[in-house]
Amino acid sequence: MGIERTFSIIKPDGVEKGVIGTVISRFEAAGLKPIAIKLKRLSQAEAEGFYAVHKERPFFADLVKFMTSGPVVLMVLEGEGAIAKNREVMGATDPKKAAPGTIRADFATDIEKNTVHGSDAPETAKVEIAYFFPEVEILPYEWRKKR
Ligand code: CMP
Repeated sequence: MGIERTFSIIKPDGVEKGVIGTVISRFEAAGLKPIAIKLKRLSQAEAEGFYAVHKERPFFADLVKFMTSGPVVLMVLEGEGAIAKNREVMGATDPKKAAPGTIRADFATDIEKNTVHGSDAPETAKVEIAYFFPEVEILPYEWRKKR
């Protein structure tokens, strides 16, 4: 599989619950290294654009409202098989179905306030990373390899 990059968001409920550090610790413990991080509040346009694939879904308006309701942490994670690994550490989208010990099982409130987002495939990871992080904001290789 090799070293991959994936995109991660700690959603407004995760920031509000005070688990930014805990979530990042879990990623690091799983071998997912943050190589770019920012904390910001998404605009309506940013959230709509990010979730454009869901725009016909009944939950789209609520999703955008929630994702703009408070600050989020945007991250690029890198590691061996990072896309699948991140999904494993997050647990299922619906916290009621998430395996014990996963981030969503431990911290999510419901399917909307589910604490984290993670890319679901290599192609989406690429698009999602580029949506928020120009390459110049990602830690250069010379520094990444030292960790
Ligand atoms: P996320 O991985 O960020 O991608 C889309 C989000 O829509 C998803 O996580 C959920 O938080 C949210 N969502 C809300 N309702 C639903 C639903 N019924 N099915 C799937 N996703 C939902």
